[in-house]
Amino acid sequence: MRIIAFHNLKGGVGKTAAAVNIAYLASSSGIPTLLWDLDPQGAASWYLGEDPDITGEKASRLLKGKTPVGRLIHPTRYPKLDLIPAHPSFRNLDVKLAEQENSSTLKSWLAPLSEDYGLVILDCPPSLSHLAEQVLSCADQVYVPTIPTWLSINSWQQLRQFAKDKKIRVAKFHPFLSMVDRRKTLHRTILEQGDERLKERLKGYIPYASDVEKMGEARKPVPVLMPRSAASHAYRLMWQEIRRITRL
Ligand SMILES: Nc1ncnc2c1ncn2[C@@H]1O[C@H](COP(=O)(O)OP(=O)(O)O)[C@@H](O)[C@H]1O
Ligand SMILES: [Mg+2]
Repeated sequence: MRIIAFHNLKGGVGKTAAAVNIAYLASSSGIPTLLWDLDPQGAASWYLGEDPDITGEKASRLLKGKTPVGRLIHPTRYPKLDLIPAHPSFRNLDVKLAEQENSSTLKSWLAPLSEDYGLVILDCPPSLSHLAEQVLSCADQVYVPTIPTWLSINSWQQLRQFAKDKKIRVAKFHPFLSMVDRRKTLHRTILEQGDERLKERLKGYIPYASDVEKMGEARKPVPVLMPRSAASHAYRLMWQEIRRITRL
């Protein structure tokens, strides 16, 4: 079982859109996949047409070891794709994790799932919190959507530094360009000429596309909603690259 995360300390950069589309593409290529919506805002759950699990088990029970993580899993309407929906109590997860001495709590929760899933995808809230630290430590690979602007590149540098400070292997972080708008000179320049600080980026990039925005209304992954669109094509290419890097 491989664990990957989509992370950025900024919000609104396309983390959740990528997590959902890649999760769908992984499952539709036959890999039993679990997507964990760790953001209490529940956008990943929303995009998959699922509602936050307000009646389900609370994070506190998970933390106390009273509930195995398997009890939080819901099937989705897509074969081989399961979801741990957002739960309002995840809001406190960060504080609770900070109180614990164990820095591999998340990893130990996921370990028993290794017989059921080939891939776990973690969709994180934007921060450098204790939760983020656990997510970044436990993931085999971390994919970092980065809008081609100077501020976004700075925030990628901050994440890289955070990983170094926390002694997390920097080589497992892979930035990729997200929401690329070719009408903007800066986007085109960074895309075409590259940037030293993004030299380890994925070859593929995600264009700015209204089809991605439509996910919010239709509550479906883009490859289901618009299979022939440029955005679907971009996510498919990215999935192939992620699959290779993650050795799936
Ligand atoms: N490639 C894209 N093109 C256009 N809009 C996008 C794209 N990716 C995401 N969006 C939109 O931007 C907003 C934030 O995306 P989201 O994936 O939720 O970001 P994050 O998880 O990083 O906060 C959403 O409204 C989404 O529909
Ligand atoms: Mg998100």
